[in-house]
Amino acid sequence: MEKKTLLTGDRPTGPLHIGHYFGSLQNRVAMQNDFDSYIMVADVQALTDNFNQPERVRENVLEVAMDNIAAGVDPKKSTLFIQSQIPQIAELTVFYSNLITINTLKRNPTVKAEIAEKKELFGQDGESVTYGFLGYPVSQAADITIVRAHIVPVGEDQLPMIETTREIVERFHRMYQCDIFPLPQAKLSNSPRIIGLDGSGKMSKSLNNAVYLKDNPETTLEKIKSAKTDSGTTIEFNPKERPEISNLVLIYALIHNQNPKDAASELKHNTYSEFKLKLAGDLNRHLAPFRAKRLELEAKPHYVKEILEMGRQRVIEKAEETMKLVREAMKINY
Ligand code: TRP
Repeated sequence: MEKKTLLTGDRPTGPLHIGHYFGSLQNRVAMQNDFDSYIMVADVQALTDNFNQPERVRENVLEVAMDNIAAGVDPKKSTLFIQSQIPQIAELTVFYSNLITINTLKRNPTVKAEIAEKKELFGQDGESVTYGFLGYPVSQAADITIVRAHIVPVGEDQLPMIETTREIVERFHRMYQCDIFPLPQAKLSNSPRIIGLDGSGKMSKSLNNAVYLKDNPETTLEKIKSAKTDSGTTIEFNPKERPEISNLVLIYALIHNQNPKDAASELKHNTYSEFKLKLAGDLNRHLAPFRAKRLELEAKPHYVKEILEMGRQRVIEKAEETMKLVREAMKINY
């Protein structure tokens, strides 16, 4: 039987952190054996809220590619590529923009939350939001369907994007009386979400609350040691009431492939500082093979660029196949 197609991606706005690792990288490495896998570095999407700092996006494209490869994304099994190198995605985005209303886009809860966070770019009440940012779910629908993906591994915050994609696909088929695309499905990772070391929602560079996969062991130790905890003295897993210590227990459990509750009871005789030392040591050991591979890749950027070039060629071929069908269905195949 032919393999089904998988597509997923990351915005290159910083190196990937341990939340990405346990949440999505491990997952895509496991799935690449069973699916025809496409991993996209979403530079065009990253520019929708970084248009004023293109160097930030530029600098992180190779970082994100190396993080994927070091984590085990195998260029023989997965096609790793850069979004902006596939002009067909931009073309398809334009056609899709007729199939979704502005009101639907404005209601997207993830986009809404992002607009509210980015007041500097988009204004106090989102009054300066750009067409490009509001429309990035449309472009994401094109990312997914350009390779005719069946399955899209993502975090929960991406579910509205997959919903929009499904809506667009169904409209497209009905409107142009064709059946080009599979109806894509989200695949949620079953690993719970790691939050920032300061207890805030997300790990992010600007909050300095993330352990990056590429961090060295000393930095990792320092970050874990200074991670926020509560004034309690016992270690338990109770994310609702004690989010910070529970988050550290979760990281420990993910490393050891344990249920977090079991991990907490195993750890209950440790003081916070004993536990933090143990956690940092275990995390460093766990990431050592990744980091070794990452350093190797950093020493040969040409190899990484070759992988991306191979990816570009493979995706272009499939994308052009898709666009032939699309142009024919839309009667613009002159
Ligand atoms: N929106 C995703 C994120 O912020 C990145 C992304 C872009 C993506 N295009 C995609 C994910 C297509 C899955 C499929 O993480």
